[in-house]
Amino acid sequence: MDLIGSNFFHKFLKQNIMFQTVEISNNEAKLLYFLNSRENSQPVSMEECIESNLTEEEIRSASSWLKMKGLVDLSEVKEVKYELGDEGKKYLENGFPEENLLLLVKDKGELSIDSVMKLMGDSNARIAIAQASKFGFAPVNGKISMNPDKWAIFKEEIERRKQILKLIEAEMPLDKLFETTLQNLLKRGDVIYSRKKTRWNLTITDRGREYARSTPIKLTIGELTPQILIDGSWKTAEFRKYDLNLQGKQFHRVGRHPLKYLINEIRDIFLELGFTEMSGNYIESTGWNMDSLFIPQDHPARDMQDTFYLSSKSKVNFSKEEEKLFRKFGSVQKNGIRGYRGYGVDWSLNESEKLVLRTHTTPNTIRYLSKYKDIEGGFFSVEKVFRHESVDWKHLAEFHQIEGAVHSKDTSLATLKWFLKYFYARLGFKDIRLAPSYYPYTEPSMDVIVKINGKDVELGGSGIFRPEVLKPIGIKYPVMAWGMGLERLALIYYGLNDLRQLYESDIDWLRNFKIKI
Ligand code: PHE
Repeated sequence: MDLIGSNFFHKFLKQNIMFQTVEISNNEAKLLYFLNSRENSQPVSMEECIESNLTEEEIRSASSWLKMKGLVDLSEVKEVKYELGDEGKKYLENGFPEENLLLLVKDKGELSIDSVMKLMGDSNARIAIAQASKFGFAPVNGKISMNPDKWAIFKEEIERRKQILKLIEAEMPLDKLFETTLQNLLKRGDVIYSRKKTRWNLTITDRGREYARSTPIKLTIGELTPQILIDGSWKTAEFRKYDLNLQGKQFHRVGRHPLKYLINEIRDIFLELGFTEMSGNYIESTGWNMDSLFIPQDHPARDMQDTFYLSSKSKVNFSKEEEKLFRKFGSVQKNGIRGYRGYGVDWSLNESEKLVLRTHTTPNTIRYLSKYKDIEGGFFSVEKVFRHESVDWKHLAEFHQIEGAVHSKDTSLATLKWFLKYFYARLGFKDIRLAPSYYPYTEPSMDVIVKINGKDVELGGSGIFRPEVLKPIGIKYPVMAWGMGLERLALIYYGLNDLRQLYESDIDWLRNFKIKI
């Protein structure tokens, strides 16, 4: 096998290189001059080339380039390496079981299988008897007896076996005479193992010698570093030449996924405006996902978003502080706050401890508002949410929401309208429509609507948080908030007509996507 690329690529380059003056890189030069410095033209192993002060990787790469330029030859050497297994190591120390068995038999003249088992242990005895049988020492009537005629041949073979173990242990080459014994040992379990290894040897060609003789060593600069610019060495140095006309393989750049690209554009808008980025978790308690947003526990609004609940046994344990806060949410749901009537229904902490895959990122906003209640400012996130939807061109079960809120004494419905128009205009959407809507936690509420494929599509919801939401967490000023779909926006942004196209990983689109707005 060639070290780099396909055969075709190889031949192609070779042809091209034949017809031009040969240029070699610094690493190729180092390797070539190292090979040339050796008197004879015997093959040199890659390991020996380490003396050229290159790393193994550099030698590998430089040698295949030199080969293509006809300056060195590469030859493959296949090697088999042997290693001792655990049994093999034991035998090396204590002798082969068959040897130990027959030494005992020789001593006693004869031994019963029972006593062999006792003396050697079951598993060793079994191996020993099986092996000894092959030399004519098979048990007869439950007894193994000495057979002087076979002894010499057996002894000779055992010596070969022991010799092999010793040579492998010492990493010495094995004599051809040992071949049959070696093959037999390889078949025995865990005694020795063989490993195939391929090595490459390098030989400098006549052309290579000629090149090294006629071209004086000159190391060129292949990469411009700050160091070279600072120390001024670039003024006198020679730069490596690149042939820009050489046609090689086509490579594709690595790029961001279009959705990630759009997310970054959106983050830039918020960050420029001085917003702080929030983050939350995919798994949320129904407490944060719903109760904190004044969605009562028996209200049909709980089904407004079809929700993925986690199995009924998984629950969150609220901290003492959280529990206090949730009891407040519960009381507001039941009794309302001054000037606002509640729903008058019962509330249980148990219910709010249930876990769901968050259906929106608005709980992020409430968490942040309650944590930074004394700060006037803006928060945003672009994160994933989950809904039990049937998937079609404008619905996904997993999608991202562009969430955000501004807490300030200057916040009003007018600022919200201005903000939404400004935000979408920054992305190139000049034509959005704001329509009255309903969310349990905002009043008034507005939806952002655009036309896609001639149909009205809702891009997201927004509104001014109700006092029932803000009072329990101790917020003083009005808060405007929104939660908008990312994928529907992306659809228009990239001129697609089905949300599923965003996640299909169509390579052609991923490489060539264009912003259509
Ligand atoms: N959370 C709402 C949704 O998921 C959007 C929204 C956010 C509405 C904030 C008003 C205020 O659709």
